Amino acid sequence: MNQDDLKKIVGIEAVKYIQDGMTVGLGTGSTVKYLVEALGQRIKDEHLTIIGVPTSNRTARRAEQLGITVKDIDEVDHIDLTIDGADQIDEHYQGIKGGGIAHLREKIVAINSRKNIWIVDESKLTKQLGSFPLPVEVIPYGSQQLFKKFKKRGYNPKFRMDGNRFILTHSKNYIIDLGLGKMGDPHKLAKNLKDMTGVVEHGLFLDLVNTIIVGHEDGPEIIQ
Ligand code: 5RP
Repeated sequence: MNQDDLKKIVGIEAVKYIQDGMTVGLGTGSTVKYLVEALGQRIKDEHLTIIGVPTSNRTARRAEQLGITVKDIDEVDHIDLTIDGADQIDEHYQGIKGGGIAHLREKIVAINSRKNIWIVDESKLTKQLGSFPLPVEVIPYGSQQLFKKFKKRGYNPKFRMDGNRFILTHSKNYIIDLGLGKMGDPHKLAKNLKDMTGVVEHGLFLDLVNTIIVGHEDGPEIIQ
């Protein structure tokens, strides 16, 4: 089995948590892709009434193609459940997200959800966060100054680029990835980053997840 097979296993497992009538936050990425496909199939087979709240244009497009009703977060009264991927999860179930530059929308949807499920292949589990670069969404204006501050603090910053162009997020901001190596105290770092003017949102998702579904060779593991 390869990594993609494990992603498929958890996508298919997670769709079982969706019930008729639910409003569901739909995350972003190559793992969520399998969830969205499985949800489209269930809606078709079981005639379910589901509203999807996508966290990226990519997910919205795919959901619509599959016949899932899609609404913007500000058009729904509440979100019952959000299912999303993650880039890294530590032993305390704290996570890094934003590898796919969607963490701002993902976090807004997650904090407005009654329940959050993460779906990951086993390679995403780690003892300590930090070996995956931490994405930070920043306002373009003054971003070089912010970059210098990150550098001074030893965060090893790197702008996310496509050749010589800055990659833009949904909100037309830049991403600076922080090469932290090992992250001592994620809560302290999250607060430090939030306190910096020009930072829109970082990719630390702390104390947010209720259930994690991990893909292994021998099937999905459910961590509650
Ligand atoms: C996007 C994310 C994704 O959930 C994360 O990058 C995991 O992606 P994948 O399922 O493709 O490994 O945070 O911003």
